[in-house]
Amino acid sequence: MSKILILPGDGIGKEIIAQAIKVIDSLNANHGLGMNLVHGLIGGSAYEETGSPLPEETLVTAKECDSILLGAVGGQQWESLERELRPERGLLGIRSELDLFSNLRPAILYPQLANASTLKNEVVSGLDLMIVRELVGGIYFGQPRGIEIKDGERFGVNSATYFESEIARIGHSAFQIAQKRDKRVCSVDKANVLEVCELWREVMEEVSQDYPDVELTHMLVDTAAMQLVRAPKQFDVMVTSNLFGDILSDCAAMLTGSIGMLPSASLNKNNYGMYEPIHGSAPDIAGNDIANPLATILSVSMMLRYSLSQASLADKINAAVNVVLDQGYRTKDISAAGDTIVGTDAMGDLIVDAIE
Ligand code: IPM
Ligand code: MG
Repeated sequence: MSKILILPGDGIGKEIIAQAIKVIDSLNANHGLGMNLVHGLIGGSAYEETGSPLPEETLVTAKECDSILLGAVGGQQWESLERELRPERGLLGIRSELDLFSNLRPAILYPQLANASTLKNEVVSGLDLMIVRELVGGIYFGQPRGIEIKDGERFGVNSATYFESEIARIGHSAFQIAQKRDKRVCSVDKANVLEVCELWREVMEEVSQDYPDVELTHMLVDTAAMQLVRAPKQFDVMVTSNLFGDILSDCAAMLTGSIGMLPSASLNKNNYGMYEPIHGSAPDIAGNDIANPLATILSVSMMLRYSLSQASLADKINAAVNVVLDQGYRTKDISAAGDTIVGTDAMGDLIVDAIE
């Protein structure tokens, strides 16, 4: 029996998580999944109830669970709060407290959705790349940081820092994932300008010695951004730092035209993981039953595969998503002329039906 912490968060979080729960309930009832759900608070809604975007109780419960399923956090009403109280701090805090350093962000183009991309079909058709983003270090967390007065004016500072051990462990993640894919890792840095990236490149080379079956290449981040929109299919696994990974993964997600379809995993060294859709909390459409629940449902699939060793149930979810797309059902964000547009709740039911 696995125990999963459900953190719906803010905005569309609750409605998309509700669909994932339907899928879990159905796998429990009909396919012997044996997943036990506990619920917790994070983000703006946690702040409203407890005064903190990451209540202690959430962290304590998270540590007792086998995995976490997160909806999304954030909303305009919390943007003027002091930094430590904002929803995003809840997310960064849980990543850091649980040492979820390895962030896997696949960008896959579903053939049924080929027209959703803004890029030419031949550039993106068949796209299947994996961004491996370092998630608990780099400039997001480096010290010193802050805004101060210096020489009589305001001065802002953040620090891009990495220990070699932090680089090595994300390198190992990337190489091990590549071994199960096309065996190619492209490490992305800015080693022509930044010392921290010079070290990054050196350590990646060292780690690659352990994986003679995997090809390692290096690319500067500006070139990588260009190549991602020019010829994205050249990539298999991209490994990069926290900040570059944040930027490149949004770019890669948009190549597929369907950010509402993409799940992600954030893993620690024991493959304990937090799973969440790549998209945000979309407060502008929250409560309207139009959000796409598929990225969240596919996050359950990723959890089954990466943390719970239940690959065959993960395959079942993925197959169900394909069946429903083949049938022409779409939420509004991924629809084109001729599709049958359905709401969040109905999409959840369709997936459940396709699984059963
Ligand atoms: C992401 C998001 C977060 C990040 C924000 C919400 C703090 O953009 O997960 O990519 O920058 O890591
Ligand atoms: Mg981001």
